[in-house]
Amino acid sequence: MILVTGSNGMVGSYVKDAFAGEEIVLTDLPEMDVRDKNKVFSLIDKYRPKTVLHLAAETDVDKCESEIDYAYLTNALGTQNVALACQKYDAEMIYVSTGGVFNGAPKRVHTEFDRPDPVNVYSKAKYEGEKLVRLFLTRFYIFRAGWMIGGGPQKDHKFVGKMISLLKTKKEIEAVNDKFGSPTFAKDFVTGIKKTIKTGNYGLYHLVNSGVCSRFEMAQEIARLLKVEVTIKPVTSERFPLPAPRAASEAMRNYKLDLLGLNPMSEWKKALVDYLNQWQK
Ligand SMILES: NC(=O)c1ccc[n+]([C@@H]2O[C@H](COP(=O)([O-])OP(=O)(O)OC[C@H]3O[C@@H](n4cnc5c(N)ncnc54)[C@H](OP(=O)(O)O)[C@@H]3O)[C@@H](O)[C@H]2O)c1
Repeated sequence: MILVTGSNGMVGSYVKDAFAGEEIVLTDLPEMDVRDKNKVFSLIDKYRPKTVLHLAAETDVDKCESEIDYAYLTNALGTQNVALACQKYDAEMIYVSTGGVFNGAPKRVHTEFDRPDPVNVYSKAKYEGEKLVRLFLTRFYIFRAGWMIGGGPQKDHKFVGKMISLLKTKKEIEAVNDKFGSPTFAKDFVTGIKKTIKTGNYGLYHLVNSGVCSRFEMAQEIARLLKVEVTIKPVTSERFPLPAPRAASEAMRNYKLDLLGLNPMSEWKKALVDYLNQWQK
């Protein structure tokens, strides 16, 4: 059995299909608040899952920057609670982390062997979460995702969702061209998790669609695929000041899975086609 935390979110929306045929317990706020150690322990004691897929997190990077205690409580100590419960009840744990742990120069692509250096509170707390998982468990997987794509019209509050609404109303759009990342289609990501955990090769993995791009390049590709006539203007990130700093590059490649011959992820432009097709359905 797999018990999922934070299952109502963007990534969680693909879990049921990806793990079809397996027994799954989906949990989220308010019943399962990972900041509450007693709740976490009693739920894991009740179901005794083989695997806990820990998705629960505060994912609003700018909110984390101003609500620091809340960010560390949820993303670091919430993860500690789940890890300690997995230790006590002998479950393996899957933790989802972020390419935001890196602080690379423009277009730098990071592997699992590069040293993290997170630049904002969200990413620092997620990185602390990684360290806590490693501290308490031996049977764990940590999967780092990039710029997440997914959720469809109901749950996509990220870049693709925003871009689709802008394309409906604007003739000219500005998009940032000095920050780089690796798009990650949540559907491919969850399917990739399922394939990787079957191997029993515990450890840390990058799991992103291949390729690196800026938001500007992503915006261009979305407009091209949706066949919208629009002018997309490249601007630097100074044009859109945000509370939380972002690294010039948090791009990654799935180096360990490549080395093992197990990399299941397609190229980001193909993943975008799949996602937009799904959206239009
Ligand atoms: N989204 C990205 O771009 C991205 C990139 C890399 C890694 N990740 C990681 O991927 C994982 C899944 O993210 P996602 O994209 O699915 O995010 P999401 O859509 O924000 O979903 C996160 C879920 O966790 C819930 N949650 C928040 N605080 C909680 C708490 N204290 N206890 C239990 N549940 C709580 C949220 O509920 P509410 O909505 O009610 O707050 C939401 O349902 C997270 O660990 C995230 O850090 C995300």
